[in-house]
Amino acid sequence: MADGIFRTKPLSHLLAATETEGQRLRKALSAWDLTAIGIGCIIGVGIFVLPGVEAAKHAGPGIIVSFAVAALACASSALCYAELAAMIPVSGSAYTYGYATLGEIFAWIIGWDLVLEYMVGASLVAIGWSAYLVNLLKGLGLHLPTYLTTAPNWEAIVDPSKGPLNLHTLNLPAALVVMVIAALLVRGIKESSRVNLVVVIVKLAVILAFIGLTVWYVKPSNWTPFAPFGWSGVMTAAAIVFLAYIGFDAVSTTAEEARNPSRDLPIGIIASLCVATVLYMAVAAIMTGVVPYHELGVADPIALVLNTLKMPWASGMISVGALAGITSVLLVLLLGQPRILFAMSRDGLLPPILCRVHRRFQTPHITTWLTGGIVAVSAALTPIHVVAELCSIGTLFAFVIVCGGVIVLRYTRPEIPRPFKAPGSPVIPAIGVILCVFLMGSLPLITWARFAIWLCVGLLIYVFYGVRHSGLNGAPAR
Ligand code: ALA
Repeated sequence: MADGIFRTKPLSHLLAATETEGQRLRKALSAWDLTAIGIGCIIGVGIFVLPGVEAAKHAGPGIIVSFAVAALACASSALCYAELAAMIPVSGSAYTYGYATLGEIFAWIIGWDLVLEYMVGASLVAIGWSAYLVNLLKGLGLHLPTYLTTAPNWEAIVDPSKGPLNLHTLNLPAALVVMVIAALLVRGIKESSRVNLVVVIVKLAVILAFIGLTVWYVKPSNWTPFAPFGWSGVMTAAAIVFLAYIGFDAVSTTAEEARNPSRDLPIGIIASLCVATVLYMAVAAIMTGVVPYHELGVADPIALVLNTLKMPWASGMISVGALAGITSVLLVLLLGQPRILFAMSRDGLLPPILCRVHRRFQTPHITTWLTGGIVAVSAALTPIHVVAELCSIGTLFAFVIVCGGVIVLRYTRPEIPRPFKAPGSPVIPAIGVILCVFLMGSLPLITWARFAIWLCVGLLIYVFYGVRHSGLNGAPAR
């Protein structure tokens, strides 16, 4: 059993599969395309939704520092992702890296963790999408009733002071957008880099317009006190806004389609992260500089700032841009999640029904509908901060394994060629591990409890199903 759970999938098999006729992907993406893909997946609710609630609840104007700390943790992880992506240029991201190098049990844990990250990430993004839609419709004079656009207030069960439970409410637009995108994905929508580029340009234009319009109204007095909830509040917010940077890891999933993966993957990963960091810090500074932090606790803070400045026309324009931008993030998350389940099922770790491909559309339709259904229910019924915290802990955990994996593999598998090496190893990857663990430690205990339950459920599935049905059973362990 011990041999079994630590067996690896030989790198030569993985690479051979990418060269199999009929399964070879076109190597068409340049460093620019990869950067655009990164920005397309990164910039979404993390800037259009989260900073408001986090500034109001945890960080105050210190949210600017929260974004910087999260960016540092991501930078080390990004370098490690770049090393592994260039070393194992096969789609599947961290799950595949784990299977090729660390062993099946680690691959399972990473894969199961990625399922959480993508699933709650998609719920969060759908909730943010809904908030912007509501604001946009309000600007057009159409008011959607609150009971159709808000999740029940579950916290009232344990703490009645948190208001009424409101069991009759649900976030319908969030659930609907998920199901529409799932239907599109089943039909085989192609994420062409040109479409992505258009969305990226719209997104960047909207953010730059926001900065250009509002920077003149910043009142530095609003930045005092800078950290009203203390530095621990700033760190808690850092752990949550961390998810604003999620998406650079998606660049690594296109490894098989990059023209020059060893050079361009690191460029795409790092460049998209830098652009996002600068924009996030600028927007956070302006938001908290224009509106006092305690008034920002809404799901559409950019629109709130513009409405406060009596620019409702700009608020409408920005909401349209935000909707387009958030939709592309949602699409990528709902595209990625079914493929991870698909890969795990193809490897025998999940039931084979999950790797069935649609006869006509050639898409993993069962996992796409399954993901869509679960995400729609969770987006309809879960408050935004619960999904935000779970998404952050799941991603941070994946980054810890990727950074740790780079260090371990430098010692255990030095013979594998590394076209790109994360600089400063083992110090930089170790900094990545430490920062990510530190940020995980800043998350509320309840988030840890939910995460632990998720991992335990996953391990039970692995022990009672995966290890017995693994495609590597009977193959020599390495
Ligand atoms: N980084 C993605 C976003 O902020 C998840 O929407």
